Order: sequence, then C-alpha cells, then structure tokens
Amino acid sequence: MSEKKYFKGLNYTLGNEDTTLEYKLVREYHSKSVFAVCGSGGRSLPLAGPGVEYLALSDLSHEQLLLAKLRLSTYKELSYEEFLTFWGYFPSDDDNFRDSRKKIFEKLNLDQDVRGYFQQIFEENQFVSVLYTGKWERTFQVLAKITRTLLGKDFDRILRFDDLNAQKNYYLNEFPINRWKAILFLVGNKTMFNALLYKGHFIEKNIPEGHFEFYLKAFERLFTQSLAQNSFFVQLCFYGKIQTLPGVPIEARIEAHKAIKDYQGAVHYLNEDLVQHLQKGDKKYDFLSLSDVPSYFKDDLEKNFMQMIRPGLNPGAIVVNRYYLRIPDCDLSGFTEITDKHRNLVEQELVQMYTIKIYQYNPV
Ligand SMILES: C[S@@+](CC[C@H](N)C(=O)[O-])C[C@H]1O[C@@H](n2cnc3c(N)ncnc32)[C@H](O)[C@@H]1O
Repeated sequence: MSEKKYFKGLNYTLGNEDTTLEYKLVREYHSKSVFAVCGSGGRSLPLAGPGVEYLALSDLSHEQLLLAKLRLSTYKELSYEEFLTFWGYFPSDDDNFRDSRKKIFEKLNLDQDVRGYFQQIFEENQFVSVLYTGKWERTFQVLAKITRTLLGKDFDRILRFDDLNAQKNYYLNEFPINRWKAILFLVGNKTMFNALLYKGHFIEKNIPEGHFEFYLKAFERLFTQSLAQNSFFVQLCFYGKIQTLPGVPIEARIEAHKAIKDYQGAVHYLNEDLVQHLQKGDKKYDFLSLSDVPSYFKDDLEKNFMQMIRPGLNPGAIVVNRYYLRIPDCDLSGFTEITDKHRNLVEQELVQMYTIKIYQYNPV
C-alpha cells in the first residue's frame, strides 16, 4: 500500500467501515488517548468521545488528513442541520443545496491548505458535496449501476424491510439469488478491483475462500443479521449513495455529532506510517484502531507489526484490526484476543467485509 500512485488524491471521502464498533469500545473501556487510521475522517473522528483527551489521526495520505480537518471544522462550527446539508446527508443530497454549501464553506474557519485544496474541488464540481467523490466511492457508484441493471425491477426490495425476519425470509426465498451471484461473480474479483481502483495493488489474499464465496457470505450476513437499509455500505452498493435516514453512518448520527462538537481534547494529524509512529513510543495510547492497514503488510512487517507497535501502547490498551481478505500471520505475544467478548458488536457491524479482531495489550 505504500505505492505513491495509490496515495495521490482522495481515495476515501465517505469510507467503507462502520466504526460504530470502535465508537462503542472507546466508551466502554473509558479510553483517554486514541490512535486511529484517519481514512476519510468519517471512520476516525467519531472516536472523539467523552473522556477522550487525545486523538491522533494517522494517514500516509496528506489529502486524507486535509479532508479530516475539513470534517472537524464542520462538526465544531456548524449546527447538525448545517452539517447534514454541507456533506449531503439525508434529508439533503450531495447535489442539491449547492448555494447553501457554498455559503457554509465560505464561512468555515479553515487552514489555508485545507481551504485551497477544497476550493479547487468545489470550483470544479460546482459545490456538489465531496461525500462520494473519493476513488473508492466512485467505484461503488459504477458497481451500483451494474447491480441496478442486472437485478432489474424491484432491485432494491432488500432495502425496504423494517422487520428483520421478513427481510431474512425474503432473502432466503424470493431474492433473485442467481442474478445476485452473477453480479458478484462479475464484479467481486481481483481483476475488476485492480482495473477500477487499486491499479495493481489489490490485496494479496490469504484466506482459504475464493473472492466469490467471500463476498457471497459477507452479503448474506448483511442481509440476514441486521436490516439492510441501516447499512450505508449496502445503500452504496445498490443506489450509489445513501438515500434514507436509517442508512446514515455513525459520523452523521446526532449523538456522534454532539460528542465531536463537545470534544475538548486535541486532535493531532500524523502524516506518517503508523508503525513508525507507534514504534517511537513518544506517545502512548489506550485505544488503537488500525483499520485494514495490516492486511497490506508483508514479510517481516506482517510477522512483527504487533510487536513493533508495543512502545506506543499503554498496558491494557485495546487494538482493533479489521483484516480484509488477508489475515496476517503475526506474533501476538503480549496480546490477548478478546473478540469473542464483543461478538455482538462484530455481528452488528454494517459493512461485514472485515475479519475484525480485538486485542488487549497485557504485557508481562
Ligand atoms: C486501508 S485504508 C481504508 C479506508 C477506510 N476503510 C475508510 O473507511 O476510510 C485506510 C487509510 O489508511 C491509509 N494508510 C495506508 N497505509 C498506511 C500506513 N502504513 N500508515 C498510516 N496510514 C496508512 C490510507 O491512506 C487510507 O487513507
């Protein structure tokens, strides 16, 4: 993942993780110092909960950090309604309220580099929200068109249930499973993702299942474990955007908005490799959310990254890793896996594309 080509421009503007799990764990463990892979900021800023005093957002991509800075200003300076309008969350949309978005952008108190970067984007797209403009989000808008075309009439019925048993019953008995399998076969593979998004750097998987089987099972969980309409990821796969209130991710929920607005601690932006930062041990953290970054590690780094980060951890620290198609074969000395204690949170996660592992650091 360290290839320059992949890090140019915004790769994620909404993101592809439901960090409600991390959001709840930070609160449950009363973590004070939090380290999170930044991504769009949507995955990481909601971790600024009550009791948190220090939040570090790490990303190799300078542009992703600029986006997080913009997001933070919109939490701090805007009302909840203005926040939704600016980002184009329900009841707004990404391409309406452009004049309001422009006015909001002009009044935000932004560093010069943040303003300059987004001014240029907004001038080009005439104040359409940046929410779906990342490379990942644009790829999923293409995939949504394929889904819609191949599923045909009633393509989104799975998103129209408000009763989980009725939704499960529909999925098991009436859902157009053969057409769905054809879609997954067509788009859920390395060649397609490399062509559309990863430019040859798609993950080297090491899980035994094939891609097709993996995606089929992941969506089956999404369609049978929780209401599909609650998942921003399912909405993206079917509509290319989020169309309803229940589908908004944690970052746009009123409780997260309030918590970030009220957050009094500092936010630190680290434009450096996460392992190198943690290895220095200059700052020690109680909670770490490493996203799926470790799935891209290879060789010695794959084997030893959990040992290398130890200087950056306080005893008892919680580390949440979201492995994607590749589960690192790594040395976990000093860590106890506690995923099973939080199985419910893992099952309720609304993207279901990750093997989530939760560890507690218990050095002897
Ligand atoms: C692995 S990606 C996944 C994006 C994420 N799922 C989201 O929802 O925003 C997370 C971010 O990690 C960053 N990244 C990749 N390798 C990194 C590293 N070694 N250290 C710090 N950040 C890294 C990428 O630039 C990207 O923005």
